[in-house]
Amino acid sequence: MKVLVVGASGTIGKLVVKELGTNHEIIEVGKTKGQYQVDITDENSVKALFEKVGKVDAIVSVAGNAHFGLLGEMTAEQFKIGLHDKLLGQVNLALVGQHYLNDGGSITLTSGSLSHDPIVYGANASTVNAAIDGFIRGAAIELNNGKRINSVSPTMLKESLDVYGAYFSGTDPAPGEKVALAFRKSIDGRQTGQTYRIW
Ligand SMILES: NC(=O)c1ccc[n+]([C@@H]2O[C@H](COP(=O)([O-])OP(=O)(O)OC[C@H]3O[C@@H](n4cnc5c(N)ncnc54)[C@H](OP(=O)(O)O)[C@@H]3O)[C@@H](O)[C@H]2O)c1
Repeated sequence: MKVLVVGASGTIGKLVVKELGTNHEIIEVGKTKGQYQVDITDENSVKALFEKVGKVDAIVSVAGNAHFGLLGEMTAEQFKIGLHDKLLGQVNLALVGQHYLNDGGSITLTSGSLSHDPIVYGANASTVNAAIDGFIRGAAIELNNGKRINSVSPTMLKESLDVYGAYFSGTDPAPGEKVALAFRKSIDGRQTGQTYRIW
């Protein structure tokens, strides 16, 4: 299958490329790196990407930022970071990408465990992750011609302990290979409207 991976250079992206690259053709996309560049927060940039790449069998998003900060200090502008970037960015990819997906193809977005396992500083990410999981459930029942959509919801990865470890005190981090396998399940399998929670 031809698999477009947005965020291919990132911590999760590299693991997904390694896992899927064994038997799929991977198109690596990033904001600054990769074979193609896109800014998922800009719908026109997403359209331009798909016009260049053409039809694919799977679209994977492992990109998107949220705002981390104390609720008591959070402003509406800061809250919009997660909505605009991680949520709408990935929704942009799905809305445009559905028209560039071959029949039977899949879209896999990334949410995260904060939707159901909150941490201090995480209110924006909790909101956004829950919304992504809601979006894929709603979208799944409308996609036709065998097209599918799922989300992968990992807890903090072992590979990200240095970056996020202090925020996730007491959390058992997920092995990256296990997270990457969830993307394979979404792409190689037949399920749709599912959120794969990985611990
Ligand atoms: N790491 C974890 O423990 C963890 C756990 C749960 C959920 N998540 C979620 O998983 C996703 C990926 O996390 P990560 O840790 O792998 O991130 P990361 O290492 O920071 O990598 C981010 C990737 O996304 C790309 N990117 C950033 N902004 C973009 C944009 N506007 N348009 C297109 N591409 C963009 C970057 O491209 P360039 O390098 O080309 O600039 C890079 O490839 C995030 O949504 C994160 O919230 C991560």
